Formats: sequence, structure tokens, C-alpha cells
Amino acid sequence: MAQGWALLLLLLLPRQLGVVLAVRAPGFGRSSARSLSPEENEFSEEEPVLVLSPEEPGRGPATIGCPRDCACSQEGVVDCGGIDLREFPGDLPEHTNHLSLQNNKLEKIPPGAFSELSNLRELYLQNNHLTDEGLDNETFWKLSSLEYLDLSSNNLSRVPAGLPRSLVLLHLEKNAIRSVDADVLTPIRSLEYLLLHSNQLRAQGIHPRAFQGLKRLHTVHLYNNALERVPSGLPRRVRTLMILHNQITGIGRDDFATTYYLEELNLSYNRITSPQVHRDAFRKLRLLRSLDLSGNRLHTLPPGLPRNVHVLKIKRNELVALARGALAGMAQLRELYLTGNRLRNRALGPRAWTDLSGLQLLDIAGNQLTEIPGGLPESLEYLYLQNNKISAVPANAFDATPNLKGIFLRFNKLAVGSVVESAFRKLKHLQVLDIEGNFEFGDVSKDRGRLEKEEEEEDDDDEEEEERR
Ligand SMILES: *[C@@H]1O[C@H](CO)[C@@H](O)[C@H](O)[C@H]1NC(C)=O
Ligand SMILES: *[C@@H]1O[C@H](CO)[C@@H](O)[C@H](O)[C@H]1NC(C)=O
Ligand SMILES: *[C@@H]1O[C@H](CO)[C@@H](O)[C@H](O)[C@H]1NC(C)=O
Repeated sequence: MAQGWALLLLLLLPRQLGVVLAVRAPGFGRSSARSLSPEENEFSEEEPVLVLSPEEPGRGPATIGCPRDCACSQEGVVDCGGIDLREFPGDLPEHTNHLSLQNNKLEKIPPGAFSELSNLRELYLQNNHLTDEGLDNETFWKLSSLEYLDLSSNNLSRVPAGLPRSLVLLHLEKNAIRSVDADVLTPIRSLEYLLLHSNQLRAQGIHPRAFQGLKRLHTVHLYNNALERVPSGLPRRVRTLMILHNQITGIGRDDFATTYYLEELNLSYNRITSPQVHRDAFRKLRLLRSLDLSGNRLHTLPPGLPRNVHVLKIKRNELVALARGALAGMAQLRELYLTGNRLRNRALGPRAWTDLSGLQLLDIAGNQLTEIPGGLPESLEYLYLQNNKISAVPANAFDATPNLKGIFLRFNKLAVGSVVESAFRKLKHLQVLDIEGNFEFGDVSKDRGRLEKEEEEEDDDDEEEEERR
């Protein structure tokens, strides 16, 4: 409560607006985790990394049969990483279960190189110069215990054939892969994670049956490719599909017709336009919890959005309107991000939010709002409105939202007399109020004089207005 009062005091001092008006409660974890303008984490190469963490091999005295310059442990860990290897090392101990060959200069793996290593579970070959020709269809075939294979950052242009059936996690990102043929993945019945991001895949390069029968495959990364549509034949049990940063222009009626288990769908940073989103496209996605359509070219919030999502991000599009009923029935929605669009108050009728009875976070920063939107759900806790053109906070602004914990109004057009502090006083849970970057005065004392004068004039105008009525 003390914080609340400190904050009100600041508000009560509008004539000394030289002072910082951003009040951030110390130790308020949630707000510091969310940056002020919750910008998109710029998409970087440092993306979700999936690694097991193997024990370090002891660099003790070389055991019998340890390849030159490598380190081998009793437990079967062989580390030949980063030693400028151009040739595949001989003498690999038979009981090797973990083999690091990453960060070398291998262009090929000789036939039979792994034929003795039936205990191998993890194989690290990332960041070499491996080409399609450097592997044959039997290179990995006999590794019947192999669960983890990292072939990322090589020079492959197709998914290698003959991968072992036991694989659980397959890294193929950062190659030059253009095709996934019909039968290369389908035998890998244990596959759960498939990482194919940062390649050169187009939709037709992925065979419609490429994922057929892969019942365990739940995580597929296809971001940073050249897909111009959602590939057909997605794995039926996929739960997480990362397909952002492609060139997808639309979502067809049946693109997601068989992926009933999808929970997280990230389609951000494509070229999707509103007319190209079929209104039934999401009809089967009853388990979807998170949908990201940020960075596309939508100009209305598409109709037919999946009803059960908890998180919906449509940042940085060209939204000028929410289609009527676009948010209808979305009682499970907790976080809605509409940052960086062209929304005006007119587009957000007071009924827009009616069904959002679970909404906790609403981000409409960076739009063209001139007023605090009305009719917001009572459940709301965080309201991001920075970088709009809001010019007033009337006394009743937050009457409908008594649970607000954070209000972000930075960089709007609030003027000194236009913020009614009692609007905030009713908010018993308010911990953060950020209204910095408003009230733009150079010299406060001078402006104060000018402002008082203007205010008086305005008052006069108002009175005249009153009289005229
Ligand atoms: C990798 O592929 C590129 C283009 O396909 C080629 O120019 C380069 O020589 C290849 N590098 C190796 C080591 O094969
Ligand atoms: C590899 O290719 C050869 C020739 O096409 C074929 O005879 C062989 O059965 C294939 N091996 C595997 C494991 O697919
Ligand atoms: C989609 O992916 C981008 C880039 O990794 C990430 O910033 C964003 O949070 C993801 N969306 C969701 C809803 O998780």
C-alpha cells in the first residue's frame, strides 16, 4: 500500500514534472522479467538449443585404443572435438557410447566407420564440412543404440538416408538442406525432436509422406527456411511447431487438419495476409495453447482463431480492426499481444473483450489509441499502452479493471491536467505505473506559466460551451 501512496503522491505533483514519473516497485519480479516495451526478442541464431549434457571425459592417461589427440574416459566418452581433424579417427574404443567429433573439418565419413560401435548413444558431428557425398546410406545404419545425432552446421543438402531407427533427437539445422524425401525419416520410429531450421527448404521439398508414421515426433523446428506454404503431411502428433521466419503467405483450410495435438504454433515473421487465412484453418486445434502470428501482414484479427489458446501474439502486423467476434469465446486467453499495429479506439469496440474473462495481460502498445480502451475484462492485471496517443486518464478509466497490477502509459500524449489521479487510487493491487515520457516540457517553470494560462483559457472555453447549451 505504501508503494501505492508514493505513486499517488507523484501523481499529485504534476507541477513538478521534472521528476521521474516512472515508479517501479523494487523486487517486483514479474515486471522486471517483462521489459517495458515487451519487444520481440529479435530473432537470432541463438535459438532453442536442445542438448543433453554429457559428462566430461577425464583427460587422464590415454586408455588403450584412444585415438590420437582425443580424450577417452572409462565410461565410454570419447572427445575428439575441435582438433582440426580432416580424416575420421581410427581406433575408436568399442565401448564408446558418446563420441564428440564436432568443430573439425571432416568432409566425409568412410564406410563402416561406425560399424563396431553398437553402444554409441550420442554422436556429435556438428560444425564440420560434411556433404551428401561424404555420407552413404549405411554410415549410421548399424548404430542401433544411437539416440542423439547432431549433424548441424555442415554442408548437407538433403536429409541423409539410412539413419538408425533408435534416434530420438536429430539435429540437422544450419545446413543447406532442400529436400526431405519420402522414406528417410519414416523408419525412425523413436524420433521425438527434429530440428531442421536454418536450411533452404521450400514446401515442395518436403515430401507429403516425409513424416508419415512418426508417432512420437512432437517437436519440429522448421524456422528460417524458404517455405512458401505450410508443408503438407505434418507429423500427426506434433505438439510444438516452429515455422516462423519463412515466406508463408496464407493458411489453407486443411493445413492443420490432422495435427490435433498441436499445443504451440509459431507462424511469426511470415507473409500471411488476412484474406489468405481460411476461417476454418484452425478448427481442429483444440489443444493449441499458444499461437504466434506476429510480424505478418494481417490487417484484421482473423476470424476462426482457435478458441482455447492461452497466449495469442499478433504483434507487428497491420491490424486496423478486430473482425467482429474475432475474440468471441476465448475464455481461456490469458495473454493477448497486439503490439505495433494500427489500432485506433474505434476498432476496439467496448464489446471486443466481452468473452475474455481470464485475460491477465493485454498489450496494445505502439498503436494509435487516443483513449484508454473501455470494457476491459475485470481479470486484467497488466495493461501495456505505451507509445500510443492517449491524451487523458479520466476518473473512471479503470473502474472495470480493479485488479490491475501494472499500467504502462509511457510515451503517450498525456498532459498535466488530463490525468485524474483518483483513477489510480481505486486500484488496490497496483504495483507499477509507468507514465514517463509524457508531459513533454523543456523548462518546467516556464511551461508551467504557459500551461496555467492555457488551462484557464480552456476553462473559459468550457464555460462558454456550457452556456451555449
Ligand atoms: C559447401 O557447399 C558450398 C555450396 O554448396 C560449396 O561452395 C562449398 O565448397 C562446400 N564446402 C565443402 C567443404 O564441401
Ligand atoms: C543403400 O543403397 C543401396 C543401393 O541403392 C541399397 O542396395 C541398400 O539396401 C541401401 N541400404 C540401406 C541401409 O538402405
Ligand atoms: C515465437 O518465436 C519467437 C522467436 O523465437 C519468440 O520470440 C516468440 O516468443 C515465439 N512465440 C511464442 C508465442 O512463444
